Amino acid sequence: MKKIIIFGATSAIAQATARRYAQRGARFYLLARDPDKLALLAADLRARGAQATHTAVFEANDIEAQTGVIDTAIDTLDGFDIALIAYGTLGDQRQCETSVALTLQELGTNAFSPIALLTRLANYCEIQRYGTLAVIGSVAGDRGRQSNYVYGTAKGALAIFLQGLRNRLAHSGVHVLTIKPGFIDTPMTADFPKGKLWRSPETAAKGIERAITARRNVVYVPGWWQVIMGVIQSIPEAIFKHLRL
Ligand SMILES: NC(=O)c1ccc[n+]([C@@H]2O[C@H](COP(=O)([O-])OP(=O)(O)OC[C@H]3O[C@@H](n4cnc5c(N)ncnc54)[C@H](OP(=O)(O)O)[C@@H]3O)[C@@H](O)[C@H]2O)c1
Repeated sequence: MKKIIIFGATSAIAQATARRYAQRGARFYLLARDPDKLALLAADLRARGAQATHTAVFEANDIEAQTGVIDTAIDTLDGFDIALIAYGTLGDQRQCETSVALTLQELGTNAFSPIALLTRLANYCEIQRYGTLAVIGSVAGDRGRQSNYVYGTAKGALAIFLQGLRNRLAHSGVHVLTIKPGFIDTPMTADFPKGKLWRSPETAAKGIERAITARRNVVYVPGWWQVIMGVIQSIPEAIFKHLRL
């Protein structure tokens, strides 16, 4: 029976992932900023078989509060097997271009906040010598593009941080997983026109659960995004800078 802490538990991808673990009787500590959504999620997970669903309100950018939040979650569950960091914002790239404040806010929510959480969680895992730190990044972090490079910068920084953390914690038996979803149909992408490359949160969740079980280091969900991003990364910068991507 897994003990799972989820930061940003109300995200569509996180909820779909949690439902998979609930069926196997997991015990959850669910953190999100909206108490009503949290209560609904907790009830749903219990109905699906979760053994416990503790909840707490969590604002990603309240960095000072993180230590207390993590301590309470770990005390309540008496340790943890998996910590999933799922929250994020896809800010308006064009608005970021004229607003330093908005750019920093996006970097804060998508990079500084998870990096702060991971710094604290990693020290705990290093002492307990086990655990999975699973973090949702994005294919957008693989290469800067004009359409979303502020979001991409945050996810790219997060991926590099996780790479270093993985290297450090490998010696302690701690699993660090970087999750890179492609186009997933969730509230975050509600306004995007959908096409053949789009997948459901349930498909993403299946890939995430498999990657956690297999102790993968980096997973693209679905896996074929690795090929797409490989092609995108292989385009020489001299050509890439002229493309409208
Ligand atoms: N959907 C995609 O195509 C896609 C692709 C690549 C990566 N991702 C990543 O996947 C993760 C999950 O996103 P999703 O697609 O499942 O979208 P989502 O359903 O819109 O979830 C985003 C979540 O982030 C939470 N959140 C945003 N700002 C927060 C803050 N300041 N404090 C606490 N929570 C905050 C939201 O809380 P509320 O419920 O209160 O709004 C929501 O639960 C994100 O990291 C996203 O960047 C998504």
